[in-house]
Amino acid sequence: MSSSRSENLSFDDFDEIVSPRPEENDFDRIVEAAIERRGFLGGSLAFGSFALLGGTLVPAGARAASDRFAFSQIPANSEDTVTVPEGYNAEVLVRWGDPLWSDGAEFDPATRGTAKSQAAAFGDNIDGMEVYAVGDKMVLVVNNEYTNRGIIWGNRKEGETVNDDDINKGKMAHGVTVVEIRPESGGWSIVKDSPFNRRITPDTEMELTGPASGHDLLKTAADPTGTKSLGTWNNCGNGSTPWGTYLTCEENFNGYFSAVDENHQVSPELKRYGVSAKDRGYGWASVDERFDVSRHPNEPNRAGYIVEIDPRDPNAVPKKRTALGRFKHENAETVVNNDGRIVVYMGDDERGEFLYRYVSDGVFAPGASTEDLLNNGTLSVAKFADDGTGQWLDLTPETTGMGSKAEICVHTRQAGSAVGATTMDRPEWVTSNPNSAEVYCALTNNKNRGIKPNAGGDPTPVGGPNPREANNYGQIVRWRPKDGDHTSRDFTWDLFVLAGNPAVHQDANRGSDNVNADNMFNSPDGLKFDSNGILWIQTDGNYSNEEGFAGHGNNQMLAGDPVTGEIRRFLVGPRECEVTGLTWSPDLRTMFVGIQHPGDRGGSHWPEGGDAVPRSAVIAITRKDGGPMG
Ligand code: FEO
Ligand code: CA
Ligand code: CA
Repeated sequence: MSSSRSENLSFDDFDEIVSPRPEENDFDRIVEAAIERRGFLGGSLAFGSFALLGGTLVPAGARAASDRFAFSQIPANSEDTVTVPEGYNAEVLVRWGDPLWSDGAEFDPATRGTAKSQAAAFGDNIDGMEVYAVGDKMVLVVNNEYTNRGIIWGNRKEGETVNDDDINKGKMAHGVTVVEIRPESGGWSIVKDSPFNRRITPDTEMELTGPASGHDLLKTAADPTGTKSLGTWNNCGNGSTPWGTYLTCEENFNGYFSAVDENHQVSPELKRYGVSAKDRGYGWASVDERFDVSRHPNEPNRAGYIVEIDPRDPNAVPKKRTALGRFKHENAETVVNNDGRIVVYMGDDERGEFLYRYVSDGVFAPGASTEDLLNNGTLSVAKFADDGTGQWLDLTPETTGMGSKAEICVHTRQAGSAVGATTMDRPEWVTSNPNSAEVYCALTNNKNRGIKPNAGGDPTPVGGPNPREANNYGQIVRWRPKDGDHTSRDFTWDLFVLAGNPAVHQDANRGSDNVNADNMFNSPDGLKFDSNGILWIQTDGNYSNEEGFAGHGNNQMLAGDPVTGEIRRFLVGPRECEVTGLTWSPDLRTMFVGIQHPGDRGGSHWPEGGDAVPRSAVIAITRKDGGPMG
């Protein structure tokens, strides 16, 4: 395999090239029908939706009265640095390649490490994260989602063949990093050799739990029981349980499988998930045959789950929770319902895929066993109506026509299609408001909206919470469960914001009323409420700062007020990065933020500057006056 710098396709674009979207004969007819239904709004369809939503979005008077933010907005910029408001400090806590043990090699920019050094070092491309207080210690758990081959294989010249160690180095940079951290005079640092430190990689043994555990679909030559799998990869957002465990979410797991025979045809079930004879260039099948889908066709059925990790016990076997479904999991927002049942909201981040909810059968009682809470429950999928109402549709053998609950937990996308779930504009993070029973989800963008069906052939008509054709900017939808009961079938919804560019567009692409030339952004992705009920919004979008994105600058983090709708920019990331992952120290005086893939097109040297290799890193942000951060 030769090293390649041409990896700038998004995960979705890559999947659509290797698996073109199915033809959908009914598609045009369905779009026409949607347009007719919405004709009463007047004007063009997109503008009609915008006008309706804009009108219900934010009472203008309320916005002027708001000032719940402790900071002054910063302007957008395209600098190769992290920018925060006056009165705040941002420092690097830990970077890709930093060793977790004192006998580990320090990062070498010439070699960019080896498989051995990487397996004992902080992983690459940070995403979801959480800090846990364990006694008087603090343990940071961080997802390491993927690698940029052009950076991690920068020890090879362009086009030069990479060897097995290079491929294994990339593999070891994936997974999850668990590391103790501590505040020291003048800043935060990791605690090398802490007994909590752990790397969880694509080779770590895991338990397959829940309805699909032991099912034929999960059995492989290496694991004829279908109950034990190896590893986790492409870990995107995260969640945290009330009992203090970490949930890591397997997203674009498909892009790591390939077949020696490039003409090998995968099953339609695997195709729905984007598995094909071609991987995204990581080459794992050449060093580990379980990634050869022609030889081990059930192996991809053992990925695409939520995985529960105990940060307190470095020897605990992580548990894949099949009851929460298999799809391209973004994050997992966990809510304890009023009756004690556990509710988990989850997005499937691909163009035209669905939004899910899990409700446990049992109730959470502190001190009682929590083992079954994420094994036994009901999985549902969201259906939104244009009139601002919606319903959760249960996925059962009866409603889907599928053979068993186990099958639904493995072929969850097919189950969602069977019940007619709403195709969404790429559901990314979900977060719930601590001050009221309402839940927010970032719908990051979807250039196929109104243009192409999803991977299963389901139409993607313009309407409801997905109101713009060929949506390049994204929006944030929020819903309120009926009677404040998160287990209720019914909810009402509206849009918190439609991102856009009011300096360039006069139509719906200008965005909603709470977007202006000073706070504009595109592609909301990471979302998290702080303890005060401020909504933090992180972006993973177009950072060109040109044409329709002129004035947006680099990817950024903003704060939103759920009551007034006001949005204010707090942070701008370095060049070509995505800002993703957010958590706080137990005393709330430090906010930790992830900077992912700086320089993914070769244009950043962050954080060291000069001609340094760009490195994904966690940053720690504090107030200069020592005040609280969230
Ligand atoms: Fe890993 Fe959907 O972001
Ligand atoms: Ca994301
Ligand atoms: Ca994204």
